[in-house]
Formats: sequence, C-alpha cells, structure tokens
Amino acid sequence: MKDDLTSSVTIFVTTAVCVVALIQRKQRRTQNSYHTQHPSNGSSLSQPWLSKQDVLQLRTKHFLKSVSVSYANTGGLMILKGNGSRLYDERGTSYLDTRNNVCHVGHCNPRVVDAVSRQLAELNTNTRYLHPTVIRLAQRLADKCPDPLQVVVFVNSGSEANDLALRLARAYTKSKNTIVVEGAYHGHTLAVLEVSPYKYQHSKEFDLQLQEEETTKGPVTTPGPHIWQVPCPDMYRQRHNTGKEYANHVQDGCDYFQRKGESTGAIIMEGGMSVGGVILPSDDFVRDSVTAVRNHGGVYIADEVQTGFGRLGSSFWAFQHGNHGIVPDIVTVGKPFGNGMSLGAVVTTPEIAKAFDSMGVEYFNTFGGNPVAAAAGMAMFDVLEDEKLQEHALQIGGYLKKRFWEIQTERLHQDLIGDIRGSGLFLGIDIVESSTLRTPAAAKTSFICSRLKQQYNILTSIDGLYDNVLVIKPPMVFSKEDADFFVESFSKVALELEELGATVETMEWTPT
Ligand SMILES: Cc1ncc(COP(=O)(O)O)c(C=O)c1O
Ligand SMILES: *[C@@H]1O[C@H](CO)[C@@H](O)[C@H](O)[C@H]1NC(C)=O
Ligand SMILES: *[C@@H]1O[C@H](CO)[C@@H](O)[C@H](O)[C@H]1NC(C)=O
Repeated sequence: MKDDLTSSVTIFVTTAVCVVALIQRKQRRTQNSYHTQHPSNGSSLSQPWLSKQDVLQLRTKHFLKSVSVSYANTGGLMILKGNGSRLYDERGTSYLDTRNNVCHVGHCNPRVVDAVSRQLAELNTNTRYLHPTVIRLAQRLADKCPDPLQVVVFVNSGSEANDLALRLARAYTKSKNTIVVEGAYHGHTLAVLEVSPYKYQHSKEFDLQLQEEETTKGPVTTPGPHIWQVPCPDMYRQRHNTGKEYANHVQDGCDYFQRKGESTGAIIMEGGMSVGGVILPSDDFVRDSVTAVRNHGGVYIADEVQTGFGRLGSSFWAFQHGNHGIVPDIVTVGKPFGNGMSLGAVVTTPEIAKAFDSMGVEYFNTFGGNPVAAAAGMAMFDVLEDEKLQEHALQIGGYLKKRFWEIQTERLHQDLIGDIRGSGLFLGIDIVESSTLRTPAAAKTSFICSRLKQQYNILTSIDGLYDNVLVIKPPMVFSKEDADFFVESFSKVALELEELGATVETMEWTPT
C-alpha cells in the first residue's frame, strides 16, 4: 500500500515528523520531566523507573495483543501525569485530552484526590459493613433519577452494571429475550458481549445465527434466538428513515418473540449512542420503541455509562434529552462516576428490585461501592455541582458546534465535515468524502486523528459504524481556550488533507 504514496507525500510526512521531534526536544529542555515512583518504596527517581521502550517490550510478553495501545502506529504514548484536560508523557510533553470521559471533573482533580487519599488512610473494606459515605452516595445518585428509580446497587464498572441490569430485567420479566441496537457496546463480560453488536459482529467467539427477519439494511446475525438487533437510528446517514420507521424494527423484534409464544424481556440502549457514532435518537424512536417493548412485557435499560452525569449539558442523563418523557426501568452508570476510581451502579425501581430479591440468592460484590470508591463518587458530585460543570458543558459544547459549523462553511471544509452533532461535551464530527453523498471517510478520519496527535498534541477518538466519526468527549473542565485550540488545529489538518487529496486513501493510519 505504501508503494502508492507519491514522493511528495513521503517528504511531507517525513518533514512533519521531524518538526514534531524538534518541538518535543525543545519541550523536553524547557519542562520538568514527570517521574513515576517504584510503588513499593515511593522513592522519587530522576527517570521513569522503566523506559517507554522497556514497557512496550515487556507488554509483548506479558499482555494479550488484543489489549490495544492508542496510537500504536507511532509507538504509543506513555502517559505519566494528568491535570484537568491535560495529559503528560514521560518527557513532560503536554497533550490536550478531548477523549477521556472517565476523569469527568478533570484529571487528578485535587478534591477527588484528597477525598480518596483521606478515605484510603482511614478505611477500605468489603461492602457488607454499614458506612455513611456509601449510603449517602446511593441517596445522591437516586436523587438525580426521576421517580420511581430509587434502588441503587453499586458495582465496579460499566460491564458489571449492564450484566446486573440484564439479571434484574430477567428476574422481573422472566424472559431473556433482548432487543439491541446495531453498533452498540455495553461491556466485556460474556453476558453483555451478547448484547453488544459492536463486539459480537466481529468476534469469532460467537456462533452467530441469522435473524429471522431482514432489516432495511439487509440480513442480520446475532448470538442467538434470544437477541434481536435493530438498525442504529442514524437520521443523518439513513436520511430517508424517520424515528417511527426505526421503531418499527423494535416492533418487529417483539412480534418475532411473540410468534414463538414468548414475551420480550428488555431493550438495552443508550440515551445517546456513543460507540455507534454520537447519535441522539429522535423522541419518536424512544417513545415508540419503549412503548412496543413494554406492551410485550419488557423493560427499558438505559446505559448511561458514557453519557451520564451532565455530559450532554442539556440534561443530567442522556435518556432525559429531548421531549419524549420516557423514564427507563433500569439505569446503568460507570466511567465518570468515580472520576477514575472503579465505580459503577445500577439504579432501578422498587418493583424490579423486589423481583430480583425473590430469586433467593445474595448479591455480593467484594469491591462494588467500597468506601474509597464512594468517597471518589461523592467528591466527583461535589465538584460537578460546585463548579456547575453541566452548565459549562452546555456552553462549551454549543461554542464548539458553532465554531465547527463556521469552519465548515467559511473555510470550505464542506466536503470533509458532513455533520456536527451531539450536545454539550458529547459531540461527533462526521467526516465524509462528499457532503451531498454523505459517504463515510474512514481513512481521512484516521489521518485527522493521527495528525492532531503528531502535530498538535491533541488526543481524539474515532467511533461510529463506519469508523468516520471524530468524537469529542473530554473531561468536563475543557475550557474555551481548549475548544479554540482544537478547532484551529482541526482546520489546519483539514487544509493539509485538501492538499494531499486522494492519496490519503492509500495510507494506513490506525490510531484507536
Ligand atoms: C456505553 C458503554 N457501556 C458500557 C461500557 C463498559 O464499561 P466498562 O469498560 O467500565 O466495563 C462501555 C465502555 O466503553 C460503554 O462505552
Ligand atoms: C526502590 O525500589 C526499587 C526496586 O526494588 C529499587 O531499584 C530502588 O533502588 C529502591 N529505592 C530506594 C531509595 O530504596
Ligand atoms: C494543574 O494545573 C494548574 C494550572 O493550570 C496548576 O495550578 C496546578 O498546580 C497543576 N496541578 C498539578 C497537580 O500539577
């Protein structure tokens, strides 16, 4: 493939790499290096106690290859320090982080660090003891959910939350029939992989079966007769479909289960499809889909693992976005909850909780909601509220969207930026070959992502069914200056792309 590159591109790329190296060398001279310490004695070393090369090499022996490294094509990044919306590598080089939706109120937020450190110095145990912080956190989370969602179960991760959500749904509905949305990811346990098309469609681990009824997108396979997959309600690319038409696919699923004499157990979906490519479903889609599922005995599980805690700015939860007025039966949270500490939760109704309690076994989760994780959750809530970060996300997100539309029209990036969508600090830039045809441009998206990192030290991510959506989901403290720098840098990369033209198609740029 590389043979196809013109020599001018090669020179250009080489020059760019050299420029980056020069800049980095200068930064190395002017900034202090960050040190990591050997964990057992805490001594401060003048160099990281393992070099990046050593780390990379040891990984090849001790890690699975399928545990991937971001920007592997350029040697990966060794990140040793974080602060707000910034990350620093072993040389002290600073990167703008537009992709980390875990350190919600900022990397190493001092209030979170303080709360966690103090709690860790006082007590950390398993979760069978009474503890004021833990129950207060449950109360605080429940207070953020509309009635009748008030029963909280703490877990360690988004996967655990969704796994438990499926168990709760099955206990309540006595059915494991589940409707899932194309492109969705809900986690890495065996049970949640079965409801994650993003994984099962690409993994040889599953013995996929043809779904009985074709969707408008053609034949579909799922991990079994209990899983029904519907198309992602992407109104941009499938522009002839309405929300109601998409919801018909959910109705098809319910009908399919009914023909077999079975009810529907659940629909699991995000209030804003994240891995699916930042898609906020229409009110009609949510209303009609959930109504169909409920009419067939099922429940609505809302996965808020990426989108929760004010990220959309417009509402605290993505399931509240829009005017459909639908309240889920089960809500799952993870990533941002502990601001980097392992903390997740499931919130459900007393009725569903009762059904689960009647199953006859204890629910025990050694680490789920331990006092240290709970202290992190409390501090995250405090900062979110005191610094009004939901309002901030709405404001900065609105500003980012406005600026992207400006460069789309003024700087003639029409045939590169197809769509700018999302809300708050949950935004997607749909990169296309042509605005009229809306053809996804995966290679260009990958190029942009690589270039933003190499040239401007900006870390971004790519999602979407066609790997062509540049996703913006930074820590919520992302500033107006961060936004300006990002848009300006994007625009410069877009100009580079224009100069390179079609050659980009032949390049292999594969950051993750
Ligand atoms: C929407 C969504 N749900 C669930 C998960 C799984 O969360 P975890 O990685 O914490 O298990 C993820 C992780 O990327 C996610 O994006
Ligand atoms: C800390 O531990 C590391 C690894 O065992 C060792 O190489 C280093 O010398 C120790 N430093 C001090 C100050 O003890
Ligand atoms: C983080 O950055 C702020 C200013 O940008 C600075 O005041 C603060 O000391 C930094 N914190 C750490 C832990 O480096």
